[in-house]
Amino acid sequence: MEAALLHRFARARFRASPCLCSAKTLSRSLPHLALLQSRLISSSPSSTPSNSPAHHTTLSAITSAISATTKQRPLIALGIETSCDDTCAAIVTSERQILSEVLRTQHHLHEPMGGIVPKLAHHAHMRNLPEVVKEAIQKAGLGERGIQEIDVIAVTRGPGLAHCLGVGLNAAKTLAAALNKPLIGVHHMEAHALTARLTTKDPDSPGKLLGADPYPSFPFLTLLVSGGHTLLLVAHSVDRYTTLATTVDDSVGEAFDKTARELDIPWLPGRAGGPGASLEEFAKGSQTPLRYLDQLPIPMSLRTNKRKMKFSFAGLKSAVTRIVNQEKASDPGGVMDEKKKRDLAAGFQHCALTHLCQKVEQGLVDCREQGVQISSLVISGGVGRNMILRAMMDEVCQRFEYELSNPLKHSAVLTTSAGPGLGPSAVGMEAVTSSGVTETARARRPVQVICPPPKLCTDNAVMIAWTGLERYQRGLVDCYDIDIAPKWPLDMLGTGVVPE
Ligand code: KG4
Ligand code: ZN
Repeated sequence: MEAALLHRFARARFRASPCLCSAKTLSRSLPHLALLQSRLISSSPSSTPSNSPAHHTTLSAITSAISATTKQRPLIALGIETSCDDTCAAIVTSERQILSEVLRTQHHLHEPMGGIVPKLAHHAHMRNLPEVVKEAIQKAGLGERGIQEIDVIAVTRGPGLAHCLGVGLNAAKTLAAALNKPLIGVHHMEAHALTARLTTKDPDSPGKLLGADPYPSFPFLTLLVSGGHTLLLVAHSVDRYTTLATTVDDSVGEAFDKTARELDIPWLPGRAGGPGASLEEFAKGSQTPLRYLDQLPIPMSLRTNKRKMKFSFAGLKSAVTRIVNQEKASDPGGVMDEKKKRDLAAGFQHCALTHLCQKVEQGLVDCREQGVQISSLVISGGVGRNMILRAMMDEVCQRFEYELSNPLKHSAVLTTSAGPGLGPSAVGMEAVTSSGVTETARARRPVQVICPPPKLCTDNAVMIAWTGLERYQRGLVDCYDIDIAPKWPLDMLGTGVVPE
């Protein structure tokens, strides 16, 4: 791992809100939160570190104010997402109910242009957002106070297309100000990372969706693999992330799409999952999947690059093109036969997914070396639908364990002095009760692989509303004059600095 990364792991973080608006502005617009906010602002990073008594007073004041509200009823958030090409709004509760979800896609506008056109997306958001928000509110079946039942307005502040972000942010600010509600500007990538905490059942309370705390517990790894992102990060807590690896060229989704096009793979009925899903299906028919393996590189896997935390797919993509051209050139009719195409699809898929797995494994090793106990790997984004990827990641994660923080609550496998994996539940509990502290302290479980439902892995407003609630419950509220942040590295969250 690079020195800068190690430094970031070790760096002390502050949990104060990045919002720098004056308490006066806030008290005009939001009386019930003004006091809390002014305390937050006064505990700025430079003056009040996160472990100081003043900081704890601040957080506990916020927490008790919020828990007073949640004792009466769950909190409700409206989420708005307009960072790219879908216009979305959703209403979600702190008890993890999705009350409504509305999405207007713009695929029909961008597909004929061969990619997303920011100006078209901007205008479509302006046309669609009012109706989308209206529909989300109507469908939510809010109580008799209607829209006033909403406690929090959450909106994607960045990263994304500047003009598109502006449409959502202005709408959210206006709603928040008019309704006198707190505003939460959400980092789009934090929302992707936290989605799993909305949708995952706690394995220790299998009958219930909601354990005492949302699951997975921090810290966990998130692998975000889609048409736009190839990103591996550590989620340490709400507002605190470390990026471990990102792509230096194409995203993995793009690599699947370009290869599917190169091989002329037919789309699946209904076009579900796009070219990547067609490629996965097509490759299942391969009879000689090893045929091209010695001509296809597994990116960044040579000894010198092995520990480098970077993704790269351009070289693999070029190798596919080279093989296709060779096969066509050697065929009298100038075509590549279908059997060979299936073998090449299988070979490409194997190399691309192995590359992802190797870097996740390296990430887990790095975390272990740094004493960061990873509980789960959350796979998100369209490529996360790939069943082979899930199976391969399962295999990787089985090789890593983490120590349970509360063994009495868990019915997990215990590691005893006789060796690992001596059986779950009954054995585990017996060892816990008979052997006391020493044994319980050693309860371990393999790192879990978690895949949120596909619909919530792609861009949506449910994740924005949920992240709004997670942040609000920690007192991370923004003021009404925040700006968009089109380029906003996730690692900057929680530092108090938001790039323009
Ligand atoms: O997150 P997503 O739905 O949307 C955007 O990134 O906008 O991701 C779409 C990407 C596409 O590249 C698609 O080909 C890929 O996810 N994809 C898959 C599979 N299903 C979708 N790639 C590999 N295997 C799949 N089963
Ligand atoms: Zn996204």
